Amino acid sequence: MIGFGYRAGVLHAEDVPIPTLAAAVGTPFYCYSTRCLEANYDAFAAGFAAQRLPVHIAYGIKANDNLAVIATLARRGAGVDVVSGGEVRRALEAGVAADRIVFSGVGKSRDELILGLETGIRQFNVESEGELALLNTLAVAMKARAPVALRVNPDVDARSHDKITTGRKGDKFGIAFDAITEVYAQAGSLPGIERRGLALHIGSQITDLAPFRAAFGKIVGLVRALRQGGHAVMGLDLGGGLGIVYRAEQPPTAAAYAAMVADVVRGLDLELTIEPGRSIAATAGILVTSVLYVKPAGEKTILVVDAAMNDLMRPAMYDAYHPVRPVLEAAAAAPRTLVDIVGPICESSDVLARGREIAAIASGHMLVIEAAGAYGRAMASCYNSRPLIPEIMVRGDRFQSVRRRPTFAESIALEAIPDWLGAGSAKGAA
Ligand code: LLP
Repeated sequence: MIGFGYRAGVLHAEDVPIPTLAAAVGTPFYCYSTRCLEANYDAFAAGFAAQRLPVHIAYGIKANDNLAVIATLARRGAGVDVVSGGEVRRALEAGVAADRIVFSGVGKSRDELILGLETGIRQFNVESEGELALLNTLAVAMKARAPVALRVNPDVDARSHDKITTGRKGDKFGIAFDAITEVYAQAGSLPGIERRGLALHIGSQITDLAPFRAAFGKIVGLVRALRQGGHAVMGLDLGGGLGIVYRAEQPPTAAAYAAMVADVVRGLDLELTIEPGRSIAATAGILVTSVLYVKPAGEKTILVVDAAMNDLMRPAMYDAYHPVRPVLEAAAAAPRTLVDIVGPICESSDVLARGREIAAIASGHMLVIEAAGAYGRAMASCYNSRPLIPEIMVRGDRFQSVRRRPTFAESIALEAIPDWLGAGSAKGAA
């Protein structure tokens, strides 16, 4: 994995030993490698450049919306794909130019649409006729024209995890394939709407090019049909979704993906956008955790660690597999033990890794959970009053905390004990 590796038996993030980071912020924490983030982004840029295919790479910041991550990618040339007003604001805060922001999402509120219009974003990916009508009304009132791509539901099964497959008929996303021609024509008559083209996104962690090719083929057919009908179609947003290796998957490379896209869109003169999230952020992040207790449990051993499902939801939510490595490298010949790695949360779903063979680990040892840079901290919660954990960014031999652990006072600062329960809460005194 680029960015992380053992040196003299100690796991490093780039040139910094993990124990140095742990000493700085305490476990558990997330750590990101600048070099890996950049390499993952560059792979897409180079893949499309090799095809001589201009593309707007709009990093899907839902995968990891830390300002440092967004800013690192934005400096490298990335735009962003956002799905909420909060994400619009984060992108701007991280230095992304408004005209590099694509706004996706099935349920944009009135306020979020207004924010997008005021900001002057690049494109709204509109997912319903209702959203189109509201956006038109708001734009007209603001004497603006909203740049719009209609998100098509291509009715293609990406054959990914059910919870992250989005492009089947009946999924909540996009406008039904059969309705697109009519809605696109209707959009052309709305004074507040500037039609830019079509968009789609069929799911996430897709490890095979076939569903992409099928969906892109269908949407290209739509582009041709719309153009024949006299409608201008300038751009195509192909969404995100390229999978990564968590275990033994063999996902296509960004270069192979770009070659397939080139093959499908050749000769169409379309402004392309892609929205990769996971494939940029996942391998650039690890979750570092310490072993609290080691206890026997029948055939196997349970390692209770200080990170939990609230810090990394993916195993509990999707039965996701993340590789685990010790921070101090075990000798090749060291005997292995079969372990489950569990967090402190009071739920039996709080298992971060199941049935792993790990060499002698004792209380106080550190482990890293790999490929945790995407949908890790971004999906974390404060369940069990566990504060969000710190995030550290590494670049070469430099590192910086890019989100610190909140104090207890900060954790409860937005809450109140109602007046009718009487004054005298400890909070005011804190
Ligand atoms: N564009 C749109 C409109 C999306 O809905 C998504 C992800 C992306 C782009 C980025 O897709 P990616 O390249 O990351 O696959 N929490 C789940 C993944 C949910 C993905 C949702 N949409 C997980 O941890 O596996």
